[in-house]
Order: sequence, then structure tokens, then C-alpha cells
Amino acid sequence: MKTYSLNNGDQMPALGLGTWKSEPGEVYKVIRTAISVGYRHFDCAYIYQNEVEIGAALNDAIMTGEVNREELWITSKLWNTHHKQDEVNECLKITLKSLQLDYLDLYLVHWPVAHHKDVIFPQDGSGLVSLSEISLEETWRGMEKVKAAGLAKHIGVSNFSAKKIKQINDSATHKIEVNQVELHPLLQQKDLLAFCKEENIIVTAYSPLGSRDRAVQMKAENEPDLFEIPTIQKIAENHDCSPAQVLIAWAVNRETAVIPKSTHEARLKQNLEAANLSLSKDEMNEISVLDKHFRYVTGGFFALPGSDYTLANLWDE
Ligand code: A2P
Repeated sequence: MKTYSLNNGDQMPALGLGTWKSEPGEVYKVIRTAISVGYRHFDCAYIYQNEVEIGAALNDAIMTGEVNREELWITSKLWNTHHKQDEVNECLKITLKSLQLDYLDLYLVHWPVAHHKDVIFPQDGSGLVSLSEISLEETWRGMEKVKAAGLAKHIGVSNFSAKKIKQINDSATHKIEVNQVELHPLLQQKDLLAFCKEENIIVTAYSPLGSRDRAVQMKAENEPDLFEIPTIQKIAENHDCSPAQVLIAWAVNRETAVIPKSTHEARLKQNLEAANLSLSKDEMNEISVLDKHFRYVTGGFFALPGSDYTLANLWDE
């Protein structure tokens, strides 16, 4: 498996298992199966509300000697309710307890959005706190503290624009090492990738398969299906593989990490194998022209009336 080097030489496997939408009741088995077929990188988050069950699976796999902690790469994310400097530690501690771990390999600020502490999902603008009240720099200082305390080996962000990364890095002691964003052929974010490369930031692609199992209320009408794009289907035929494998291979071939989610053993295996598939230069060029700047995860749930957040200032575009 290809890996990416962090600043201190630690290696993050290019492919990890996404756990968003993996339901409690099924995720234990998914994690055990994933470990048994060779996954070592797991992407988690406090807000996915399944970390207790993931923790049980990781712990059982470690206890049975199937894998050891050092071989695993575990990422989790700070939720928007804990953006105050002194609350970062509290959210991370809950995650560590749930996951039954002493440290994370990577901890990310999930969104550049702050909530009031008791508001997990805001229904209107009153649940949100403006970034002038709890600044991103303040949250980042909390992240630096958990890194200094050894609770997270690496720290980074998710859903951050180049502008917000710059804003943090300008005053950071520990700079951002990873930015996790939505990436697939219809949302290629070439400028952001070039910027992150300059800044020595690893980019991780979420929703690489188009997040087809999102809740209905999160979906736009007539969303495109990545598996149905003729160019993707043609390249899949060239390699005698599935469209999902082409999408994963594309992500790894352009030097991003990628975290497809699945709950099925055959797909888990298929997706893992795809990380080793090489696409030709011509194939990469054919995919390059498919970009439509189309987001599945619009962030619209934060652009609420009565708050300072808009889609324009969320993405800085
Ligand atoms: P399932 O979990 O039932 O296997 P994303 O990673 O973009 O969020 O996409 C996850 C969605 O893609 C889930 O609906 C998942 O279904 C599906 N999926 C994952 N791997 C494959 C695959 N190899 N072929 C088809 N669908 C897949």
C-alpha cells in the first residue's frame, strides 16, 4: 500500500476506510472485516456517533493479536460544539475513550464552523457562533495543545479553503499537516491541491464515490451518479474493474489519500485493491476534463438565516 510521509516521517496509508454513515449495529463487523482483509487506516469522527462500536472492534483486533496499535492509522475529528481552545481536549478525550485508544494518529478540525456547546445540529442561526467570537486561530491553539500533550500525533483540518489554512498557518506553532475535503472527478479542486502541495499539506479525498448513501434530506434533486459517467465506465472496462475502483485509483494516482466507505466485504476488498491500480496519463487526462465543481456535501446545513455563515464564506468562493 502506498503511504504519504508526514513531517516527522510517520506514514499515512493512502487508502483508509470511511466510517461516516456506517451504522452502530453493523460497524463493529465492518471494522473487523476490514482489518482482516488488510485495512490499516480508519477515518472516524465524534459526530458520526459510532466511535464506541469502532473502538470495540479495534480493541478486539488488537487483543487477539491480529494487528498492533502501531500498524494502525486512526483519524478522528473535533466537532463544532468544541471549538473553544479549552474544549478541544474534552472532545478528543471523549473520542479516545470511545475508540479505546491512548492517542490518535491524526485529529482534524471537522468544519470551519462553531456551534454553541449544547447544539449538535443547529436548526437555525441561533445555534451557530460566529468565527469572530470563537476564531479559527483559537480553535487551532487548542489543537496544538492536544498535539503537544501527545494525544494526537498529527493535527489538521477538514473542509478548509486555502484562505482559512493561510489564516491559521500564519500564526501557528504546529502547522496544518492534512486537509480533508470532498474530491472526485466532478469536484477536482485543482487550485486547492496545488496550494496544499506548496504548503506541504496532505490532502484526503472524502465522498470519493459520491456519497450515494447520504440521508435523503441531504441530497439535491437529480444528483449525478459518478458510476454512470461514460469516461469512468470506459476506463473501468479498459482495466476490467468497477467504476468505484477507477474513482479510487484516480484519487491515489493524483497523490491524495482517499477514504471510501463500504459495509460489504466484497467491496471492502475491491476498494483496497484499487489503491494499487495505475491509470495511464491519457486516462488521467480524460478524467481531468470532467470537473464541474459539483459538491455532494454543500455545507448548506450551516448557511442558516440568522447566522454569519453563507456558502460563499464557508468555501471562500
Ligand atoms: P455500501 O456501504 O453499501 O457498500 P462514499 O465513500 O463516497 O461516501 O460512498 C459510499 C457509498 O458507496 C456507500 O453507499 C457504499 O455502499 C458505496 N460503495 C462503496 N464501495 C463500493 C463499490 N466498490 N461498489 C459500489 N458501491 C460502493
